[in-house]
Amino acid sequence: MAERETWATRLGFILAAVGSAVGLGNLWQFPFKTSAEGGAAFVFVYLIAAFLIGLPAILGEFVIGRRANINAVEAFDRLKHPAWTVVGAIGLLTGLWILSYYSVVGGWVIRFIVDSATGAYFTDPGGHFGDVSMGWAAIGLHGLFMATTAVIVAFGVEKGIEKATRLMVPSILVMLVGLAVYAFTLDGSGPAYGYYLSPDFDYLANNFGSIVPFAVSQAFFSLSLGMGAMITYASYLGDDDSLPADGSLIVVLNTAVGLLAGLVVIPLLFVQFGSVPDVAAGGGPDALFVGVSQVFADLGLAGRVFGVAFFGVVLIAALSSAISLLEVATSYVVDNYGYNRPVTAFGFAGAIFALGTLSAWNIAWLGWFDSLAYSVLLPVSVLLVVIFVGWVYGPEAVDEIKKGTDGGGTFATAWLWSIRTYVLAGVFVTLYLGVTDIYAAPPIPFL
Ligand code: TRP
Repeated sequence: MAERETWATRLGFILAAVGSAVGLGNLWQFPFKTSAEGGAAFVFVYLIAAFLIGLPAILGEFVIGRRANINAVEAFDRLKHPAWTVVGAIGLLTGLWILSYYSVVGGWVIRFIVDSATGAYFTDPGGHFGDVSMGWAAIGLHGLFMATTAVIVAFGVEKGIEKATRLMVPSILVMLVGLAVYAFTLDGSGPAYGYYLSPDFDYLANNFGSIVPFAVSQAFFSLSLGMGAMITYASYLGDDDSLPADGSLIVVLNTAVGLLAGLVVIPLLFVQFGSVPDVAAGGGPDALFVGVSQVFADLGLAGRVFGVAFFGVVLIAALSSAISLLEVATSYVVDNYGYNRPVTAFGFAGAIFALGTLSAWNIAWLGWFDSLAYSVLLPVSVLLVVIFVGWVYGPEAVDEIKKGTDGGGTFATAWLWSIRTYVLAGVFVTLYLGVTDIYAAPPIPFL
């Protein structure tokens, strides 16, 4: 068997993990879920979820991946718990499910790069999204996005993924800070900050049942949890890295990017509409596109340049996440059956493309795929990982957390305790609320 690759540098791993984490979840989904779920109350729950539940959970995936040193499915086998390979498989399928509509949104982003360059949406920034988000053109661009993802994965970890993500994190931060500052200077953005940053706890109490599952699942989605992505990435990691240090840095950077994206999109929506548009009236998946495109249109020629740069960065972020979703499945088949990497990557990409045509054809499908992923698939998958790490693998997991840290024993013990108790309970409540939500209003299109 060929020697398994490892990350060339520690920074390479961190950037690749941040590259996986930072994506459409932060830039597209976080702002729109925030506006759909009441603003700051959602942000508040999200922050708690990211640090108190997301961080312990990501460490759990790192433990599994580094210890097993193999893809996310066989990892459980190698840790001598073969029955749990089912969990890896569930994660893998969840990843493919999510990638199917993620790629459609990636296609929209490609579209907006081109349309920024030509100024195609400048006459009607609000309406343009509606014209281009569904139908044949959306299917074509979804295919282009999927194909690009497959090409990167075909090249393998070091040459493909590590190189592709190196420039991304700094450029995203710079672009977002620039746009956030610009949005702040615009007339009418003022009230956005209260809406976004000052939580209304009565609102939270009254809408607990819908805010919590979305906010917690948003944290999972954004941290690339529950799909074997972090297990797979950590499997390429050496024993001298500190998992707690790397994990914390990844969570902080990822959260910062989400918050910044909100600081761009929400003020821009207020500038345009005086508030965040109602989801029913279209203030949903289009928030990012509609929010910023008005600004680029107002800026004229400069707006074309900014528009291309902005959506270009969003595209890089989306691609670096998409490759991690595809890598989970590809590395499983390559490790396990010895198939050719490029053929495998393109094979999966083709299947995912086919599934995603539904979402590209009608946005109602996209919403349905997304709800099911949020309310059921992600929490189920994270719950199983948490149970495994906490209760099945327990003590050995503590050893793994301590490796590469100086001492670190107290942290490791506290971590195991958290995984076994409140993290487990939190994920369980999220799943329960998510399922009740879906059950109350089954969002199946055309029924
Ligand atoms: N975290 C990515 C984002 O925010 C999406 C993503 C990549 C993902 N890999 C994942 C989500 C694995 C869940 C699981 O855009």
